[in-house]
Amino acid sequence: MSTVASPALAEVLRYAAVAWQSFRAGRSLDRALTNAIANHPELRPAVQDALYTAVRHLAAAERILTRLAARSPAPDVAALLAVALAQLQRQSHEAHTVVDQAVRASQQLGHAASASGFVNAVLRNFLRQRQTLLAELQDDLSVRYNLPAWWIERLRSEYPGGWMQIADTQQQMPPLVLRVNAMRIAVDDYIAQLTKLGIESTRTGMYAVWLHRPRPVAEIPGFLEGDVSVQDAGAQLAAEWLDAKPGMRVLDACAAPGGKTMHLAELGVTDLSAVEVDAARAERITENLQRANLHARVIVGDAARPDTWSVTNGAYSFDRILLDAPCTASGIVRRHPDIPWLRRPADVAQLTKVQSELLDALWPLLEVGGRLLYVVCSLFPEEGREQIARFGERQPDARRVDLPASQLLLPVSVAEPAAVSAWQGSSLPTLHDGFFYALLEKTG
Ligand SMILES: C[S@@+](CC[C@H](N)C(=O)[O-])C[C@H]1O[C@@H](n2cnc3c(N)ncnc32)[C@H](O)[C@@H]1O
Repeated sequence: MSTVASPALAEVLRYAAVAWQSFRAGRSLDRALTNAIANHPELRPAVQDALYTAVRHLAAAERILTRLAARSPAPDVAALLAVALAQLQRQSHEAHTVVDQAVRASQQLGHAASASGFVNAVLRNFLRQRQTLLAELQDDLSVRYNLPAWWIERLRSEYPGGWMQIADTQQQMPPLVLRVNAMRIAVDDYIAQLTKLGIESTRTGMYAVWLHRPRPVAEIPGFLEGDVSVQDAGAQLAAEWLDAKPGMRVLDACAAPGGKTMHLAELGVTDLSAVEVDAARAERITENLQRANLHARVIVGDAARPDTWSVTNGAYSFDRILLDAPCTASGIVRRHPDIPWLRRPADVAQLTKVQSELLDALWPLLEVGGRLLYVVCSLFPEEGREQIARFGERQPDARRVDLPASQLLLPVSVAEPAAVSAWQGSSLPTLHDGFFYALLEKTG
């Protein structure tokens, strides 16, 4: 715990509050952060930490504010309070330091002096009533799991026996998992290198290595050389399960930032096309491929409109298609805790429609006997099981192929003993996020 007032804390809280306000208006946390500190990149680590702490305490902060404030504060004041309340809950600074620095930050908001008085009063009231307030909120599921009520209802109705474990796992800090580039180094040799450097790790999948302590990518041995990339072990199953052989024509239909494209290239796929609708994100694919000296055709285009882009000048078809479709991302909440708060209930139906349009548009591009692997990092059945059942009804020439393991992967916590014991060659990694997979073969 820091006992000295960090001179930067007021500044950190202020910029975190700017980002918070923009996040609550609908921007992703990463985008909001980047915009807020555009002129102060040196503040990024501290502001990011404060922001992610706030999002992990969002439901509690909003309930506390409703109880403690007689009137709704202006949005910038509410944002500052959300960020400061989260700091008080996390207790990584002395409470009085957080209060003083939050008041100092509020003086720069451009309100009358009453705003600072208000911030001071709310935070001090929280400290006085902390035990009672937190006890009162204990039975509030939204606070307990830090999820909106509608999200909890969806989880509960699909996973009546297991939703609490899913929600608990999703509140934890995400494990840092690497994918070892099979072209450059064997997984066990890489782990031996880490051990020599004193870096603790566990093999958790065919190509997956979990670093017990997170570190910036530039400090991961072999990252800059392309020996390893950061990718959840559940996501690594896509390239494995697509089972593309050298010589096959392969399409990665929704490809940015290129994690799965890279993996396919690392497994020896040479005729590889990566389509991405967002031009800026498509650049990330190119950068990622370059880092590891890998090759793929990167195409900026709408995968749902194959008539508007082409891989070659003539007709084209594929032996393998990977459709890693846009989705609610309900399976990767521990990596993106902002997601449940950015989505609206209506988004589920809207994304389900986009996914079915992508499936219908890509299916004609598949050769007879070819395979399409559909994947979403979602746990909601509309995007997974039900989506594929409906597709099967529309496309009688689509045969569901068995996968080596269950098609639904529920997120695994590092607290589960099996997750942290070394992988023994089974078809599933021991530690992973939540995904739905379906492999479809074209029969005629
Ligand atoms: C789940 S992410 C893909 C992650 C990627 N496969 C990886 O492993 O790094 C989905 C991507 O699809 C893109 N996307 C969404 N709609 C698309 C469309 N109609 N055509 C092509 N790309 C699309 C999004 O911009 C996003 O980058």
